[in-house]
Parts: sequence; C-alpha cells; structure tokens
Amino acid sequence: MGKQKKVTVSVPINIALIKYWGKRDEELMLPLNDSVSLSIDELRATTTISLVTDAAADSVCINGKEVDLGKQSRFARCFNEVRRLARKRKLDDADGDKTAPSIDGVKFVINSETNFPIEAGLASSAAGFAALAFAFGRLFHLDDTTVVRIARLGSGSACRSVLSGFVHWRAGAAADGSDCDCISLASADHWPELRAVVAVTSGDSKAMGSTRGMENTVETSTLLKHRVSNVVPDRVVRLRHAISSRDFATLANITMRDSNQLHSVCLDTHPPLMYLNEASWHLIGLVHALNDHFGATRVAYTFDAGPNCCLFAEVDFIPTLLACLLKYCPSSGSPTKILEKLDKSTAESA
Ligand code: PMV
Repeated sequence: MGKQKKVTVSVPINIALIKYWGKRDEELMLPLNDSVSLSIDELRATTTISLVTDAAADSVCINGKEVDLGKQSRFARCFNEVRRLARKRKLDDADGDKTAPSIDGVKFVINSETNFPIEAGLASSAAGFAALAFAFGRLFHLDDTTVVRIARLGSGSACRSVLSGFVHWRAGAAADGSDCDCISLASADHWPELRAVVAVTSGDSKAMGSTRGMENTVETSTLLKHRVSNVVPDRVVRLRHAISSRDFATLANITMRDSNQLHSVCLDTHPPLMYLNEASWHLIGLVHALNDHFGATRVAYTFDAGPNCCLFAEVDFIPTLLACLLKYCPSSGSPTKILEKLDKSTAESA
C-alpha cells in the first residue's frame, strides 16, 4: 500500500444554464449535445475515500445512508475504471509508480455528505461523482482529463463540477469520446455581481432519475432531435458571448428558455416526465412578473430534473428578489395576479 490511504475533498454542485439531456453513447456516457454550467460554491459534497484491505466489499454511504451498490451501476463503472487504471499504471511503469497505492485486495470505503437535499433535482449527483473522481485522482495521481472522464462515468453532469466557474462540456463527435471534454470559460470572479438563490420547493426524491428519464426521452421524443440539431448549438455560441461580455439579460433569457425546453422535451417523452410542481410554476410566474414589472430582465430561473429552482440575479437586485420571494411565496396566486399585486413599494421597501 502506498503512502496515502485516505483522502477528503469538497466539490461544489454546478447548475446547467444550457442543459444536458440525452446520451449518444450510454457506456462511455457521451452526451448528445453541448452544455454550459456555473458552479455554485456554497452547495457542496464533501467526500472521503478510504482504501482498506480488511473490508469484504466496496461501500458507499451518502448522508448517513448506505447505498445499495447492486442497484447503482454508476459506482461500479467508476470503480472498475479506477482499478483498471491503477493496475495499468503499475504495468506500464518500468519502476512501478512508488507513490501510487497498490490496488490488489483493496476495497473503497466512501463516505459523502451534502449540505443540500439529494435526489431532488439539485445536481447532487454532479457534486457527488465529481468529488468521488477528484478524490480518486488525488489517491491515484490521475491527470485532470482522466478525473473529468471518471466523473462523467458516474454522472454526466458531474464532469462539469471538476472545473470551477463557467464550464462548457463539449459533446464531441468521435465514437470513442476522445473529443468529449470540459473547458473552463471563465472563473467565478469574472462576474462577481452574479448571484444564485436556490428555492427548495420539495425535499422529496424525484419519481424518475435522470438516467432512465433521458433514455426514455431519447427513445420517444421528436422534439429532442430538433433541440440537439437546431437549438443548442446557436444557444451555446450566444451564451458564451453573454458570459464573456457579462450581459445578464442575454444570459438570463437563454437560461430560462433552455430550462423550459428541457421540461418541454420531458413532456414530449412518452409517457411524459413531469419534474416541476405547482410551486415551481408559481416561481416561473413570479420571475416573469418581476421582469415585466421592472421593464428589464433582472432575474432568471432554471430547473433540473426536479421541482427545485435556481434563480440568478445580479447582486443589486438580490434584496428585491428576496423580499418578493418572502412576500409572494408560497402562494397559490396566478402570475397575472402577482403582477397586479407587485406594487412599487415592494421594490422600494427591499
Ligand atoms: O448528470 P445526470 O445524469 O444527473 O443528468 C443531469 C441532467 C440535468 O441536471 C437535468 C441537466 C444538466 O445539464 O445538469
């Protein structure tokens, strides 16, 4: 066994502004389309991997709950790849890599804690598998490209959490995935005024996980084909430009439209996938009412495969946004009613 037998890392979630939904290769976890995300540093998975020789099997515990690895092939995919690389490295290296731990007879004991609800469409698997891959990278001295690939094998969107700030995950076209990669577009401090507010509408687990959901969409949705070929490529170009020029209104409008298109392809799946709840729709209505009221796009929403909402705004608008969230949520009022109720005093009192 090498020197380092245990590593703890902490990795943020990332929220996609342009969503990944659908794979072109299930085994290699290659996406059908490019996606762009922003890491949210305050929401994190903290993961410890111990390499132990006296355990009967690999084990994973998330927020104190043991994961049934028999039902979760994504962990096995990562573990098999790490073991393959560790063995290959020993063989390739004439002297043997003295610093890397030996893999024979070693089991992985993994403990992960998140500071937000998991399985509720808040990108928990992204942070979880990115942390796992990152920790394996530290234990086995893997390069960044390999860490990105291992994260992707666990959960596609996880590969974006390996880099910080704004990240572009490029789908590529090569059958072996050699041109599928992640690049950093800008660090988080490129746009210090940008803030995210997470509105948790439900802590329940989602009815259908993203893996099955995506498979069903790829099999049955005709809208997905249109999205992948005709919509996403242009959106990525425009979003990258909005990020580099810190153009909030363009970023916000692309983000909202892309979230809405994700949920449209979910509804176009047969049978349909419904991830949003009544409170999610209420938030969507509230955001549009606010933007109408202020005559400018000041806030954006986005939803992953779940009902919880990530809102984006620039820092000067955050007091108003929070005041409105407190005043109008929860509420069963319709968006038009919110607009009527949204008097100037709300903004001024904020
Ligand atoms: O990484 P997965 O398999 O959990 O898929 C996540 C997909 C979305 O969160 C809905 C969108 C995205 O790009 O993160």
